Amino acid sequence: MTAIDLSATIGNETFQHPLINAAGVWDETATEMNAVLESAAGGLTTKSATLAPRAGNPQPRYFDTDLGSINSMGLPNQGLAYYLDFIANTDTDKPIDLSVTGTKMADQIDALKQIQASDFAGLCELNLSCPNVVGKPQIGYDLEATKEILDRVFAFYTKPLGVKLPPYLDLQQYDAMAEILNQYPLTYINAINSVGNGLVVDPEAERVVIKPKGGFGGIGGKYIKPVALANVRAFRQRLRPEIKIIGTGGVTTGTDVFELILCGADIVELGTVVMQEGLDAFARINQELTDLMAAKGYQKLADFRSHLQEYDA
Ligand code: DHB
Repeated sequence: MTAIDLSATIGNETFQHPLINAAGVWDETATEMNAVLESAAGGLTTKSATLAPRAGNPQPRYFDTDLGSINSMGLPNQGLAYYLDFIANTDTDKPIDLSVTGTKMADQIDALKQIQASDFAGLCELNLSCPNVVGKPQIGYDLEATKEILDRVFAFYTKPLGVKLPPYLDLQQYDAMAEILNQYPLTYINAINSVGNGLVVDPEAERVVIKPKGGFGGIGGKYIKPVALANVRAFRQRLRPEIKIIGTGGVTTGTDVFELILCGADIVELGTVVMQEGLDAFARINQELTDLMAAKGYQKLADFRSHLQEYDA
């Protein structure tokens, strides 16, 4: 039997396995990031970095439920220099995707200027979709702001760049957003970030379960898989084929990964499942994907990527 090849390519980077951590999961400190690199993950995403370190929102700010999670972390991170330094001093064959954001557009531009001026030449992910900065909307829900930031960034940025998008829920939103994204030399998009500003209620205590923002926060886990599938599918149908897609949202099994790749994902990120199960989730889900591919007679991801059929096909 031919061995199953799980490799995938984004930009100049080859991932030997298609599962990596979602930004914000097990990736704030060097200890956590090294643990991801030592696990069966195919690569590492760093916690979205701001120019200066941030402590984030008050605790409790993350809560698990049977079907997923809610968070309002508020961008706790060690600051961009820490992550650039970590990458410069880490010897690994696995790709590292540097996630970057800011609470103001000017800060996001400054962060990318620093990255452009640095020796870092890997993948960078501009987060246009943090739902948890008090008083700040998600750029990805504002077409004008999205266009403005991409115009400003691509005036100077020449390294491989992706954008992390919020979930869209209306077909017209995909049309409008894809039309904008197609105008820029993006290496990839990442769909989706958490479903912003959901609410989890504790019926016994008759209160919310996290402290920031009156309990509102980003929803992850099983709740959001159909939204992730829809976003990956809709963008794959609309984006230039050179723009790759990282599929993120609601994965807990190898079958979930298979579904996202059928919809057009190049690689897949794990979020809530790693929070709940730990880094062993990577090996388990890789194995489940491999077993499913073997059962179906597929040898590589390209054998089924984007092959989702419509009902009458
Ligand atoms: C945070 C949450 C997000 O969903 C995101 O994209 C970035 C940051 C946070 O609260 O830290």
